[in-house]
Amino acid sequence: MYNVTLIPGDGIGPEVTGAARRVLEATGVKFDWDIQQAGEAQIAIHGSPMPEETMHSIERTKLALKGPVNTPKGGGFRSVNVLLRQKFDLYANLRPAKTIPNIMSRYENVDIVVVRENTEDLYAGIEHMVGEDAAESIKIITRKGCERIARFAFDYAVKNGRKKVTAVHKANIMKCTDGLFLKVVGEVAKEYPAIQFEDVIVDAMCMKLVQTPENYDVLVLPNLYGDIVSDLCAGLVGGLGIAPGANIGVGCSVFEAIHGGAPDIAGKGIANPTAVILSGAMMLRHLGEAAAADKVESAIVALIQRGEVTRDLGGSLGTDAFTDSVIREMAR
Ligand code: NAI
Repeated sequence: MYNVTLIPGDGIGPEVTGAARRVLEATGVKFDWDIQQAGEAQIAIHGSPMPEETMHSIERTKLALKGPVNTPKGGGFRSVNVLLRQKFDLYANLRPAKTIPNIMSRYENVDIVVVRENTEDLYAGIEHMVGEDAAESIKIITRKGCERIARFAFDYAVKNGRKKVTAVHKANIMKCTDGLFLKVVGEVAKEYPAIQFEDVIVDAMCMKLVQTPENYDVLVLPNLYGDIVSDLCAGLVGGLGIAPGANIGVGCSVFEAIHGGAPDIAGKGIANPTAVILSGAMMLRHLGEAAAADKVESAIVALIQRGEVTRDLGGSLGTDAFTDSVIREMAR
């Protein structure tokens, strides 16, 4: 029995995390879910989008499956996601993007894993106005932060039979911050002679990913570029509806899709739950439940191959009907 904090979140969050819960339970693995809230609605109740109880629950379970939490643009409360990642030191954000045969996408044979540093960079949120007409944001990059994310990326490559790690940066312009990132990742690379290492400047990387994504394997990036490039990679393999993610720390992990609350489709019963379901499969693997994870992933692949999918992928199924199909497929 695994104790897991389940955070439904905002927008489509309750719909897609509810679907993921049903699928994970149908694997036969036993979970004791501690359902906790986070999101916009919590401000009126607790004065904060992230109630203390939710934090305490994660401190206890050390494991969460989380729906998206909306963050206001340009003002308002700080991102709950950034807060969680900093508070539990979830330093590695793992975002795989792999082509599923028959999926509606412009590309074939994409198999990229984005390893994004999750606690530093401009996301440290240290910014202020300088007078009324200027604003300043501080970009923090540390040797410790670079070393551990680089080691995570190379260890991941070794454990998962990957061949190449590409460091993505803008060290030609940000010579101190990105320069340190590139230097330290390069030093760590020397400890892994069996893994090919290269570096690419982030703007060129975006172009290369759009032209020849099949040339890339594991990417390691500082926080901001990692966020942007992982959405780009999601777009190469079918979009945000199928892109899972994991935030991994030393003693605590939070699994969540890349996508946000999708306010344009929230409450309509049409959201694609695949991304959160696949995040749940990543959680199963993390727990050592590889057979159950395989079962979930194979069912999703089979449904996509048969075109039994939600609208974002060109199908006609709603969230619940798709979830029913996944569960039926797992039982076959
Ligand atoms: P979004 O990811 O919510 O939506 C972008 C587009 O993708 C929309 O057209 C949406 O309908 C579509 N989409 C996303 N997930 C989908 C799914 N599962 N099935 C079908 N279509 C899907 O990004 P947006 O609109 O920029 O952000 C909305 C809110 O989400 C913002 O407040 C943002 O701060 C928050 N957000 C939260 C995240 C998190 O909690 N980890 C991550 C990203 C955004």
